[in-house]
Amino acid sequence: MRRLAIGSLIAIVCLSIVGLSHAKAVSAAGPGVDGSTVQVAAMMADVAAGKKIYDANCASCHGAKGMGGVGPSLHGTLKNPAMPRTQKALVAWIKNPKPPMPKLYPAPLSDKDVDNVAGYVLATFK
Ligand code: HEC
Repeated sequence: MRRLAIGSLIAIVCLSIVGLSHAKAVSAAGPGVDGSTVQVAAMMADVAAGKKIYDANCASCHGAKGMGGVGPSLHGTLKNPAMPRTQKALVAWIKNPKPPMPKLYPAPLSDKDVDNVAGYVLATFK
């Protein structure tokens, strides 16, 4: 349980780093010189894994670009107070959603899958 909490915390910190580094990279129009590029690359791997999981398990209802369909649009996940806005809240939602959203955990999605797909949703559908 404690390991799970630490994992979520790390994910939140990493997501923030991605957000900040991204803004920095855009404004500087080049890779960071402080090593943040390496951290971004490491996080991107998780987000990339999350995209695969999203495409296979969520896109049918929420749309390939999160615009919604059977399920609601996921855009505004970070801004809408009614939505699970943090990595931790999103992971908790995916593990135990309200019907009619199906419960995809613990199968077919593992802990790691849920972490990755939540990271992808938060990083992608602003
Ligand atoms: C069978 C269709 C279906 C699938 C598959 C599905 N969802 Fe949903 N999802 C829904 C529906 C319907 C709701 C609205 C539930 C409700 O009424 O609160 C929802 C709600 C949500 C919400 C909350 C939105 C809000 O307004 O609070 C999030 C976030 C979400 N889904 C993410 C995901 C993710 C990530 C996946 C894949 C791991 C996924 N969903 C898979 C149908 C689906």
